[in-house]
Amino acid sequence: MADSKACTHLLLFGATGDLSRRMLLPSLYNLDAEGLLPDCLRIIATARSAHDDAAFRKIAAEALAQAIEPERLTDAVQARFLDRIHYVPLDATTIAGFDALGEAVPDKSNLAIFLSTAPALFSPTIAGLASAGLAGPGARLALEKPLGDSLAASRAINDAVASAYPEAQTFRIDHYLGKEMVQNLIGFRFANTLFEPLWNAAYIEHVQITIAETVGLEGRTDYYDGMGALRDMVQNHMLQLVALIAMEPPVELDPASVRDEKVKVLRSLRPIDAASVATHSVPGQYAAGAVAGKPVPAYAEDLGQASSTETFVALKAHIDNWRWKGVPFYLRTGKRLPERSSTIVVQFRAVPHSIFGAAPLQANTLVITLQPGENIRLEMMAKSPGLDRDGLKLRAIPLDIGLANAFAESRRRIAYERLLLDLIEARQTLFVRRDEVEAQWAWIDAIRAGWAAAGHAPRHYAAGTWGPNAAIALTERDGVSWHD
Ligand code: BG6
Repeated sequence: MADSKACTHLLLFGATGDLSRRMLLPSLYNLDAEGLLPDCLRIIATARSAHDDAAFRKIAAEALAQAIEPERLTDAVQARFLDRIHYVPLDATTIAGFDALGEAVPDKSNLAIFLSTAPALFSPTIAGLASAGLAGPGARLALEKPLGDSLAASRAINDAVASAYPEAQTFRIDHYLGKEMVQNLIGFRFANTLFEPLWNAAYIEHVQITIAETVGLEGRTDYYDGMGALRDMVQNHMLQLVALIAMEPPVELDPASVRDEKVKVLRSLRPIDAASVATHSVPGQYAAGAVAGKPVPAYAEDLGQASSTETFVALKAHIDNWRWKGVPFYLRTGKRLPERSSTIVVQFRAVPHSIFGAAPLQANTLVITLQPGENIRLEMMAKSPGLDRDGLKLRAIPLDIGLANAFAESRRRIAYERLLLDLIEARQTLFVRRDEVEAQWAWIDAIRAGWAAAGHAPRHYAAGTWGPNAAIALTERDGVSWHD
């Protein structure tokens, strides 16, 4: 560590955990391979287990072998990368161990800290960091979800964080913001003239957002059963997507401007309460079924006991502001659905008057696929070739932009690559501000309170289907079909 005095340090809490092995270490390796990490960046990995540098580097090497394509995993880069890593065992519940951590960071003026630990450890960890001098003005703290399970719990965490790190040094992670297509929502909306004049209630009839997953509980028994789909997916990822789709143009792409606009949307979400949960929300839970032709057990069987946790939720949301007056945002997410896909569908209104007689016209639809594959498709009406003896024939045809083709030269990155680099370089735009998180929780808490008051319990759906029938009825009542 000869050059460590002037170096950026990255402290990884929870370094032996699943997120670190699957995402963080591989992301850092990828950044290193592209020469994007500062030359003298030191990574101080920490967790409870009693490893030394060599033992942890072996764990890291195994993680890289699992996650990185063999052709990208070269001996030279791997050696350079592993050489950056040091390991400090730490019991975060006692303040004593933090001194050793402080000593491992001789220069505390440029420090990025990534907490990927159980939320119960947040407060003691923050206190420990502060006591070891690791919360000075040059320190940035990144926090990985779950950041509480309610507005009150989230406030308590935010207060604990704020006691040591001002908001400008706090980097709340929502990994969806690290995804290329999610950032492209800003590019697409504000770098083209074409859509923004139409991007409002006068021309858009409704918006749908689906985040569908084929996986089930995946052994995350304790965490997931205490959360459910509403808090696991809607509170964060889904509402961030809503904010990016619905926000006004920010003044600039700086953290304050972008987040100011997002929070206005989140505050404009119309509460769904006991009186409206029945018509505006459908919680569901998967029963036994088949996904991709393979039989899978029910959630209760995965869990080992009966549960009232929702593994699916569909919502009809409204944003009460000028731009979106009367435009429903239909949101749905769930486990054990037929496919893994995240899509945003913007349904434009029909033309005001048809000159084509009885020929049916389909209103324009914009389908933005976030994953898998990154794609933008615009369904437009066009004349079918022919001599039109019986009148003009029209058909909807897609204008398709596959980003993988358009940007064939670019490698698809892990979302955490972008977020870790932004953390290291102190760029805050893609991190969630406290007021956003709290507005998100306020909306989610009201729905949960409404469910409890109205006794609105999850309905079963067969694994491998698009959720309970009631989720279909939720949109069909408005004459809208989900875009499957
Ligand atoms: C996480 C949720 O935040 O996002 C998981 O806790 C979910 O339940 C995951 O599976 C989905 O992320 P991605 O990037 O695979 O869409």
